[in-house]
Amino acid sequence: MVPRRNNPITKPKEIFMTQRKKLGRWELQRMKEEGKKVAWITAYDYWTAYFAEQAGMDMLLVGDSMGMCIYGYEGTIPVTMEQCIVHSEAVRRGAPNTFVIGDMPFLSYQVSVEEAVRNAGRFFKEARVDAIKLEGGRRVCPQIRAISDGGMLVMGHIGLTPQSSGQLGGFKAQGRTAESAMELLEDAVAVEEAGAFALLVEAVPPEVTKLIRDTLKIPVYGIGAGVHTDGEVMICSDILGIFQAFTPKFVKRYANLGQEMVRAFREYAEEVRQRKFPGPEHSYSMLEGEASKLEEAVKNWRKG
Ligand code: KIV
Repeated sequence: MVPRRNNPITKPKEIFMTQRKKLGRWELQRMKEEGKKVAWITAYDYWTAYFAEQAGMDMLLVGDSMGMCIYGYEGTIPVTMEQCIVHSEAVRRGAPNTFVIGDMPFLSYQVSVEEAVRNAGRFFKEARVDAIKLEGGRRVCPQIRAISDGGMLVMGHIGLTPQSSGQLGGFKAQGRTAESAMELLEDAVAVEEAGAFALLVEAVPPEVTKLIRDTLKIPVYGIGAGVHTDGEVMICSDILGIFQAFTPKFVKRYANLGQEMVRAFREYAEEVRQRKFPGPEHSYSMLEGEASKLEEAVKNWRKG
């Protein structure tokens, strides 16, 4: 029996008009082999997912970057499983025909292999995601192997891994020396051998990404990893111009929604204060003949 809790209360008609077939791991693999790039972004809520699907986005990641982009934390460390599940459910509802990846938050997979499998399973059971992603190379391979053996699709994530940014010495590009590039290559090979269906490489020089992509059979996606990838992911709040705290070097803004929101909120507040809004076109009228009946009723009521 399929759980019904993911059914949206309101179902925009267009969702059912979206006929496209959701991508799966073999389509993604074929796209790599045919040299077709995969375009994906993060999404944390129903509407972003809905519009991304309408725009034909290939995949959506419910990233733990929600810590900064949604909750205003300084990083991803405080993000919990409960937050990730709730946001993944919303994204699933908004984009039923898109490949959705749930991001495993800090401490949901590091403590033990058993906890990793159980928490990965929650994403699939409760939020109906298509895959999960976790950060790390060789040191998380037992978790990747066990989750994959549990029948779940796992994406690896190496390079700049924000959950261990303390150990990495901050949010810094990785693989900039031959030695650290070789470490990344060994991590990438181990992640593939452990059973990951794809790998995300973050903040790494393009030649290192190319080396990894040319070595692995599985798709290698990038963020701040140059052009030699099988696809690119960006954080939606960055490309939309919503996240204001900082803009990484690898981000390109495609809109300035932050400014547009301030403009719209100001205009609304101004119109309320000047009594321009709401106008008659935003008000309800009484039913025919009811206004005079009300006037009469009020008169009698006042007389006592
Ligand atoms: O959490 C996230 O948004 C990520 C990005 C690096 C894609 O993992």
